[in-house]
Amino acid sequence: MAARSQLGGRSRSAVRPTTVLLTAAIVAAALLMAAVLFGARWTPSSAGETWVSTGVRVVMNAVSDQGAAVPLATVPDPGDRLLGGLLSPDFDDRSCLSRYRAARYRRASRHALSPHLVSALRRYESLHRLCAPGTPAYARALGRLRANASGDGADPSGTRCDYLVWTPNAGLGNRILSIAAGFLYALLTDRVLLLNGSRHEDLDDLFCEPFPGSTWILPPRDFPVRKKLTIDTAESLGSTLGRGEAPGGAPWLYLHLVHNYRTPDRLFFCDDVQTQLRRVPWLVFQADNYFVPGLFLIPRYERELSRMFPRRDAVFHHLGRYLFHPSNTVWGMVTRYHGSYFAKADERLGIQVRTFKWAPISTDDFYGQILKCTHRENILPAVVARAAANTSTGGADGQQAAKRKAVVVVSLHGEYSERLRDLYHEHGTAAGEAMSVFQPTHLGEQHIGDRQQNQKALAEMVLLSFSDVVVTTGVSTFGYVIQGLAGLRPWVLVRPDHGKAPDTPCRLAPTIEPCFHRPPNYDCRTKARGDTGRTVQHIRHCEDFPEGVQLLES
Ligand SMILES: *[C@@H]1O[C@H](CO)[C@@H](O)[C@H](O)[C@H]1NC(C)=O
Ligand SMILES: *[C@@H]1O[C@H](CO)[C@@H](O)[C@H](O)[C@H]1NC(C)=O
Repeated sequence: MAARSQLGGRSRSAVRPTTVLLTAAIVAAALLMAAVLFGARWTPSSAGETWVSTGVRVVMNAVSDQGAAVPLATVPDPGDRLLGGLLSPDFDDRSCLSRYRAARYRRASRHALSPHLVSALRRYESLHRLCAPGTPAYARALGRLRANASGDGADPSGTRCDYLVWTPNAGLGNRILSIAAGFLYALLTDRVLLLNGSRHEDLDDLFCEPFPGSTWILPPRDFPVRKKLTIDTAESLGSTLGRGEAPGGAPWLYLHLVHNYRTPDRLFFCDDVQTQLRRVPWLVFQADNYFVPGLFLIPRYERELSRMFPRRDAVFHHLGRYLFHPSNTVWGMVTRYHGSYFAKADERLGIQVRTFKWAPISTDDFYGQILKCTHRENILPAVVARAAANTSTGGADGQQAAKRKAVVVVSLHGEYSERLRDLYHEHGTAAGEAMSVFQPTHLGEQHIGDRQQNQKALAEMVLLSFSDVVVTTGVSTFGYVIQGLAGLRPWVLVRPDHGKAPDTPCRLAPTIEPCFHRPPNYDCRTKARGDTGRTVQHIRHCEDFPEGVQLLES
């Protein structure tokens, strides 16, 4: 095949997407063309700045020529380092080892990726390149902000860049989720996402730059206003609306999307407020929440979101795999852990254990719940007394383990993995599996903003995303990140019932999407309280946290 010979030694990375289409004839046509054209370099489309993959464009053209059929999406080939076009090829491999390598460790994604999302990402990358810190457009935008000028009036040079600045709030899991949500909002509104890097320890040496040829870090002293941003900040959307002012004229606005937000801040999720915000060149936000489902409530984004995500249940999965590439330091930890714990195993199980002050449970009870869950769902093999162990395996291979299963436990405390390890050490398993239990770290408690601790936590999230099966603790954002990156529906440990393990120890999650714990619960049309879990088709209350909502494919 032509594409093969062009690629020469790198033919293994050729993309042969399985195209999910409405008609079988188009599948054949699209596959043929994709096979011929994928692997060619990405080229600028005739539209100028926009970069699209030739493969993706051909698939789209093939379909529009045929009329009725619509390509839903492609599922990338497991050997494809660009994840079916999700990742840009325009990076130096060594600057970020994890970017093109993580795919070799993970199970291949089974979640369809739409060509529309791929082209939206390439378009975003060119916008980011044009507007990022260090560019003339950025200097002009900053100049206007310093002069306290509003967003009205065109930039004499013709290009105007609008920004969305993320400011850290809460722990690493929450931060990853709020960055992903902010990025989706930036994609929908043609804003450039920048991360507030004022406090170095927050972001230092954690992630690689996700956008080619530019940075997503806002240089520490660039933003002229440097005050603590809280729910009462005068420049917040809520305060502005509370004073009866129109937010549209402001040079910058603060969006308070933290769990304690009040009704005026929640109007962010209303269409008319979104119209006003379009005129504000700088938006700064703080969130401790995965507010993506809230964006699906806003009518003006509905069409674009359904094109980017024809299936709504893999939003974080795709955005997470696109954005979060661990830095070389963190990747070093990940590959070391992987080499020691997972590499030799036939089956990999990740267990993420987290206790919350608001849902207390004793270590004994929680351990019991974990065992009950994993045995009942056949995740971990049942144990038998040592003496009986070798008889039941029987046969000539009686002495040989049937299967090697590795279990990695992630927890702030060591007890759970120690007990599991002892259990399998003292007993055999009925089917003779060789069990090994590991725990990379036990840090005692979470120190928000501690650089080394963040690095270890990220390494653990990434390692667990390489599992074949994951068990997570309900409501934990750390668990959401693991399941999202893995693309797996986790077994979720149900929260304690009055301090005791619940009767049902765990449930298979209905979606891989994270839960939005504090939805607005506001009805923009009636201007009154409303139940976000009953407003639109694809948003339902979360199973692990009924107060929250999540995206489901129904
Ligand atoms: C950046 O963060 C610092 C402190 O972490 C805060 O004082 C400042 O207001 C933030 N600036 C922006 C633009 O988010
Ligand atoms: C199990 O294996 C051990 C060592 O190979 C042997 O000593 C023991 O007798 C066996 N037990 C049974 C019940 O076969």
